[in-house]
Amino acid sequence: MDQNTSLFYPIVDYKLNKTQKKQLRSLLIEAFPKSVQKRLFESQIPSFRGIVKIFGSIVAHVGVTHRIVNVDDKTFEIFGIFDLCTRKIHRKKGLASNLMAWVHELAGKSGINHILLFADQKQRAFYQHLGYQSVTAKCRWLVMDGAKSHSISEKQMDETLMIRSEAVDIFSGKTIDLLGGIF
Ligand SMILES: CC(C)(COP(=O)(O)OP(=O)(O)OC[C@H]1O[C@@H](n2cnc3c(N)ncnc32)[C@H](O)[C@@H]1OP(=O)(O)O)[C@@H](O)C(=O)NCCC(=O)NCCS
Repeated sequence: MDQNTSLFYPIVDYKLNKTQKKQLRSLLIEAFPKSVQKRLFESQIPSFRGIVKIFGSIVAHVGVTHRIVNVDDKTFEIFGIFDLCTRKIHRKKGLASNLMAWVHELAGKSGINHILLFADQKQRAFYQHLGYQSVTAKCRWLVMDGAKSHSISEKQMDETLMIRSEAVDIFSGKTIDLLGGIF
């Protein structure tokens, strides 16, 4: 990273100004064109975000939800990762890996031992390099219909669920109740 690159984290949504919101929306639209949305989040406001700025413009982002999940009637504190993305012209320079390394460090310092995410097949190798393992487990979550609670969904997640933990067995083959929307 050079002197024109700055890492800003953690960012909480209630502190985002108009320019940051605009830049973030533009980045998310570029990175996830199929799920273009008016809101800056899928189902709920993230607990916090990490962003990278170059020359004052947001070029990379990660959303983090800090929550409790229920696995076979035991609760675990996790970070859930979503909307990791980098502007096309700034990819392959280590920005996303850098944001993830920061999340991992923060989790370690905070005693959060499990980080969960859902990844497409083409992103799995990237996350494997960062220490995530594909886990087969059933997930249960609150389905939103726009800004309304709709129903509870339960689905066997084969491979899309990836977990960074020294104890993936806690989750493997179990039912993970996400106690909220999916991320
Ligand atoms: C996936 C994504 C976030 C990666 O962002 P990025 O900033 O390019 O990520 P990094 O630079 O840290 O790493 C990307 C690759 O570049 C490589 N890389 C990192 N620094 C590099 C460098 N200086 N030179 C060359 N390659 C480098 C990494 O090893 C990695 O390789 P891999 O894909 O084989 O694992 C980005 O491609 C993106 O926004 N995609 C669209 C949105 C998306 O699909 N997000 C994931 C949701 S599951």
